[in-house]
Amino acid sequence: MSTLFQIALIAALCGCFVGAAKLPNIVFVLVDDWGFADVGFRNPAISSPNFDDLAKTGLILNRHYVFRYCSPSRASFLTGRWPHHAHQWNIPSFMEMAGTNLNMTMLPAKLKTANYATHIVGKWHQGFFDPRYIPINRGFDTSSGFLGGGEDHFTQYIQCSIDYWKNDAPDPRNGTYDAYNYRDDLAKIIENQDTTNPLFLYLPLHNVHDPFEAPDEWLNIYPVNSTCEFRRTYQAMVSVADNVTG
Ligand SMILES: *[C@@H]1O[C@H](CO)[C@@H](O)[C@H](O)[C@H]1NC(C)=O
Ligand SMILES: *[C@@H]1O[C@H](CO)[C@@H](O)[C@H](O)[C@H]1NC(C)=O
Ligand SMILES: *[C@@H]1O[C@H](CO)[C@@H](O)[C@H](O)[C@H]1NC(C)=O
Repeated sequence: MSTLFQIALIAALCGCFVGAAKLPNIVFVLVDDWGFADVGFRNPAISSPNFDDLAKTGLILNRHYVFRYCSPSRASFLTGRWPHHAHQWNIPSFMEMAGTNLNMTMLPAKLKTANYATHIVGKWHQGFFDPRYIPINRGFDTSSGFLGGGEDHFTQYIQCSIDYWKNDAPDPRNGTYDAYNYRDDLAKIIENQDTTNPLFLYLPLHNVHDPFEAPDEWLNIYPVNSTCEFRRTYQAMVSVADNVTG
């Protein structure tokens, strides 16, 4: 379900320190299936002011290697292990084997031991064969988003079902582009944050993974491409990812 994958860099360490332990808030944004040159600071045909700003004021990892599929890359980020050690090679996510090994402690569970509040908003793709595999049972206080590898961005429909969940309960959001749902859910988490504890926000966006769909307000900032219609949709999907990250 997931094809080529570029992990996004963007571990933004918030400058504001909180709590007695002075631990930083951590925000990790992951952009799915993102091409090397599909970002404004490498390509003037893409509008991504927030990513450009992060690149300008942060660090670009120019030699950062990931697995060719997204689930194994996610598993490595979340477990600190090679994909083959985390038992993860991107097989269909309804199978038990598709779940990252339960004997691996994930990053949010480690951060809980340092009093972090931990939240995931977006795409999981680390297994959902049974409840033991889902985010709230792997170290996240709350989760919002979908568990599989891809689905319709506007209806959350995939293979005769709706894949969108709040923790362990269905939470259909038909009609709103998924990245906008994530943005709204994130805003609520940040507004309701108990600032005595540091925050870990994991935002694995569905963008720019297929199906190729984008809201009109972002399509309209790009010219129609007469040789490759899809390209304009892809450009708009990067801009949505940029906007939500901002
Ligand atoms: C985790 O489980 C896998 C599969 O059963 C096994 O191969 C591996 O050795 C286990 N790893 C640890 C650290 O227990
Ligand atoms: C989403 O809503 C539209 C409009 O009401 C409806 O036609 C469509 O069947 C719904 N799709 C899903 C997957 O629920
Ligand atoms: C149209 O798409 C092609 C293929 O991706 C690309 O090479 C070209 O630069 C695009 N044209 C415009 C105007 O964006």
